[in-house]
Amino acid sequence: MTETKTNAMWGGRFAAGPDAIMEAINASIGFDQRLATQDIEGSRAHAAMLAATGIVSDSDVYAIRKGLLTVLSEIEAGQFQFSTALEDIHMNVEARLKEIIGEPAGRLHTARSRNDQVATDFRLWVRAQCDAAIAGLEALMRALLAQAEAGADWVMPGFTHLQTAQPVTWGHHMMAYVEMLARDRGRFVDARARMNESPLGAAALAGTSFPIDRHMTASALGFDRPMANSLDAVSDRDFALEFLAAASICAMHLSRFAEELVIWSSAQFRFVRLSDRFTTGSSIMPQKKNPDAAELIRAKIGRIFGANVALMMVMKGLPLAYSKDMQEDKEQVFDAADNLMLTLAAMDGMVRDMTANREALERAAGSGFSTATDLADWLVRVLGLPFRDAHHVTGSLVAMAEGAGVDLPDLTLAQMQSVHAGITQDVFAVLGVHNSVASRMSYGGTAPAQVRAQIARWKEMLA
Ligand code: ARG
Repeated sequence: MTETKTNAMWGGRFAAGPDAIMEAINASIGFDQRLATQDIEGSRAHAAMLAATGIVSDSDVYAIRKGLLTVLSEIEAGQFQFSTALEDIHMNVEARLKEIIGEPAGRLHTARSRNDQVATDFRLWVRAQCDAAIAGLEALMRALLAQAEAGADWVMPGFTHLQTAQPVTWGHHMMAYVEMLARDRGRFVDARARMNESPLGAAALAGTSFPIDRHMTASALGFDRPMANSLDAVSDRDFALEFLAAASICAMHLSRFAEELVIWSSAQFRFVRLSDRFTTGSSIMPQKKNPDAAELIRAKIGRIFGANVALMMVMKGLPLAYSKDMQEDKEQVFDAADNLMLTLAAMDGMVRDMTANREALERAAGSGFSTATDLADWLVRVLGLPFRDAHHVTGSLVAMAEGAGVDLPDLTLAQMQSVHAGITQDVFAVLGVHNSVASRMSYGGTAPAQVRAQIARWKEMLA
């Protein structure tokens, strides 16, 4: 037998209630209850405006606004009975309001639709997530700055192709991530500014014949202005997509750093030691200390970027204005936001707790002929060789050292002079890794003095 109970909100046109399967595919209350705070905030602003414009009496609006606070406290206390039959958060709240205050509750939905209501709620929610992401990024940037400051002049190998390239400083490497995260921060700031317009009052799609004041509700909700086109207001989800795009790029950065931490904490590298608080053991191999947090951070980009792709697919091809497809926006964004915040917090904890192994970094910095470029530069600077010739001479010296099983600084002056007679004792000064990094004073280069200047600049910006 089909349920005959009709819907309290639109029962007039319906003789029968929905099939159980219809209810299952249609209801969003299972997840959109996360919008409860924003829904009630939006409704309270809407009600206040209905009173100010004389659309609904002051006494009814008083009852509505007070009743909404009661509903909110019930939800916050976990005492609220969410009903699937009532589909979503908007109707759950309104139905409960009716139980509490009676007839005036029916006036709240004047000059409004769930289409502008959900667009407003969701914008408020995503806006708050931008703020949370910005705060999380700033915390992580501070943690990286502390690492950079402690090891501004510690040398380590710089890699290209994950092959030893040239020595760099630990501080320089940490500050590279500060730069990336600062761009991520900027993307959330930009997205937030662009999304900060109010859809409320667009009603179903065409606006309303009631003399509403959209500027009043916009400013009550902290929006800069009302959205200028009602069709756009109810059908736009760019704000959610921009959040997901910014989150995806950010997660990609965190994934790259996580990968470095996985490599660096291995027994083969030993560049860093991760704390017990951010690692796990093995149930079978007693010696193991696994970088699980880093591995999971490395993986999170999958679901975050997946959410971005999923919502793009939902939105593509939708005709204006609202379509129920758009209800599929929320779970993707909720999941991506939750995982982004968790990832930022986990990375922050790992960076704060981790200890760089200065000796291991320095040892590795000197291996792999990492100062070959310094030698070539010396041949250019001191002997006046064209760089291509210097490159060739240096290549021969590297081959000689490799054949002898030693590093460049271990070759004797006589051996060097056998390749190029002009080489003098002075060359050894540029072969040490500390000399190498100190010489890289070009703007943005790895010299400790440059790194310290960047640290000072960022500390001031984050202060
Ligand atoms: N739960 C709906 C959503 O998330 C609210 C809007 C419903 N609008 C409608 N015309 N059925 O999209």
